[in-house]
Amino acid sequence: MTATQIRQAFLDFFAAKGHTIVPSAPIVVKDDPTLMFTNAGMNQFKAIFLGEEPAKFPRVADTQRCLRVSGKHNDLEEVGIDTYHHTMFEMLGNWSFGDYFKKEAIDWSWELLTKVYKLDKDRLYVTYFEGDEKEGLAKDTETYNLWKQYVDEAHILPGNKKDNFWEMGETGPCGPCSEIHFDSRPDNERKEVSGAVLVNADHDQVIEIWNNVFMQFNRLKDGSLQPLPAQHVDTGMGFERLVRVLQGKTSNYDTDVFQPMIQFIAEKSGKKYNSAAKPGDNDWSEAVAMRVMADHIRAISFAISDGQLPSNNKAGYVIRRILRRAVRYQYQYLGFKEPFFKSISAFAGGTV
Ligand code: GLY
Repeated sequence: MTATQIRQAFLDFFAAKGHTIVPSAPIVVKDDPTLMFTNAGMNQFKAIFLGEEPAKFPRVADTQRCLRVSGKHNDLEEVGIDTYHHTMFEMLGNWSFGDYFKKEAIDWSWELLTKVYKLDKDRLYVTYFEGDEKEGLAKDTETYNLWKQYVDEAHILPGNKKDNFWEMGETGPCGPCSEIHFDSRPDNERKEVSGAVLVNADHDQVIEIWNNVFMQFNRLKDGSLQPLPAQHVDTGMGFERLVRVLQGKTSNYDTDVFQPMIQFIAEKSGKKYNSAAKPGDNDWSEAVAMRVMADHIRAISFAISDGQLPSNNKAGYVIRRILRRAVRYQYQYLGFKEPFFKSISAFAGGTV
């Protein structure tokens, strides 16, 4: 499947389950002092979760452009060095506003991944929240039992508050979550070391693809958790990661989302892109620089088109920092001396 078909299959699947498909909100957030950029698909629904606004529809799904470069969710320094973090990424999401809860969310995520996308079940791992005494939160045995219908127990793993209790920011909606991870390693490596020990261990071939959050609390300024008026579902699947897994690649940058940009950068710099380069190899810095440029120009292009120009303060300064990082890599490792970003940005539109 192409990236475009993969995105459409997600939206079609949830439309068939009664979800209304809504557009992505802008990346730049102008009306929430706790946030500069959209960092998750649920941001545009925050007031609904908090019970401050009624939901227009009980179930919605979308693909949301997100930027994780500031505040609680910040991946900037990983980008380019690894092959699965981005400054801007698309988050495929389905939401229930006080409608369905854990059972349907889990049933449907399994159905979509294994029946529609036909992912190999043996390579999938799921997690559940192990509880947290200090916060007074119990272990999520309901989620564990729901997964047990489909998943071998050796592939159902407990997770702590850092990985399995999702929070939008320092304050705001939050709740226990259940992640789905995919192990892309070759069979011989999988036989030697179980993927179970590599989940949430920063292994670049055992990566989280989807997070199902069961929204039940509001984190207040004093750090306490207040139960929400209703229970909701908030899910986020990393589109670029899903495409990589479905296209059988070991790097997000090897998919049809990024290859046109990467190949253009490689051609113009007169260097080859080596996806397999490792730290210490001669072409490692060049490969990192090409990934940085492709990722960053895409993020900057969409931030600008969504209303945030680079500037010297607040959100504008964050965009300027991304721009500077891209400039640094292009000069230092790829030898570009002339302005070049404008021609790459033409590709950005084709990636979303
Ligand atoms: N809100 C779900 C996530 O970002 O993982």
